[in-house]
Amino acid sequence: MIFRQLFDSVSGTYSYLLASRRGGEALIIDPVLEKVDRYLQLVGELDLRLVKAVDTHLHADHITGLGALRDKTHCVTVMGEQTKADVVSMRLADGDKLAIEGLALDVIYTPGHTDDSYSFILPDRVFTGDTLLIRGTGRTDFQNGDPRQQYESIFGRLLKLPDETLIYPAHDYKGETVSTIGEEKAFNPRLQVKSMDEYVEIMNNLKLSNPKMMDVAVPANMKVGLHQDDIAGRGWSVTAEAALELVGRPDVALIDLRENSERERHGVIPGAIHLPYPRLQENIAAGGMLHELARSTGKRLLFYCAFGERSAMAVQAAQDAGIASARHIHGGIDAWKKADGPLVH
Ligand SMILES: [Fe+2]
Repeated sequence: MIFRQLFDSVSGTYSYLLASRRGGEALIIDPVLEKVDRYLQLVGELDLRLVKAVDTHLHADHITGLGALRDKTHCVTVMGEQTKADVVSMRLADGDKLAIEGLALDVIYTPGHTDDSYSFILPDRVFTGDTLLIRGTGRTDFQNGDPRQQYESIFGRLLKLPDETLIYPAHDYKGETVSTIGEEKAFNPRLQVKSMDEYVEIMNNLKLSNPKMMDVAVPANMKVGLHQDDIAGRGWSVTAEAALELVGRPDVALIDLRENSERERHGVIPGAIHLPYPRLQENIAAGGMLHELARSTGKRLLFYCAFGERSAMAVQAAQDAGIASARHIHGGIDAWKKADGPLVH
């Protein structure tokens, strides 16, 4: 496995670049906007292809790199399903897998620091976001934080992992880089409590000032901006209501860009072709399956995904590849469900 721990000294944030091999797909956890060029340089040096950028939760102390990475690499942007961030194109839930080629992280919902906090687990390590820090825990006094939920997330989920599991947090302010579950159980001062009430008492009396960046970072991270609005402006969007009329027509090919886990959870529009977003580029290039389908049959391509973000990027890419008929369903399956569109499971 390729694994890099990257540091932003301004906010004390750790970001993590993961891939299974040189030349393969990569994902990045908790990227910082100001460091995006550095990440992309490293991705290039290691001969990787960034396909997913993930935030463990909505950050209050720095602006996320998710939007810039999406714009520069067309990667999928990922957060938990509770997120209020508009940049997210794939939403995870407890029990899902966060997968790229050769790597699958278990997704667990660990609220408490915020109500959208997730942790990601590999067999030997866990990325804890700000839920569990090295000799500390994430504050619970804003962003719908809740010390009781955090106690459950830590004691009920994270500390149940094997003692030798490595802990990689989203922040450290003292220069610590990694710990283990066993070490934190023994030496993290906030975990030396006998009850949930005792933990809550500690967390409710920290008297911390708000992060310097909070008033800037939280709104900025919620409104990074949608690709879909540009695509709609160019006339390449179809509303879910209008798309209802197109299903089953012989001159329309519906293309589902989601992953299997999303298709199983939310259902599939009848008759759609499955083409996961990471494989789009090879299919729309000249000689690719979709390119030839559009050219030889005259079928119009209608992309869709979960919320319309990946499909908006697909329309742009297809148009760039000369497929002028490419459109997408604005708002994705989410909008399709609201329009009472049929789904098969
Ligand atoms: Fe945080």
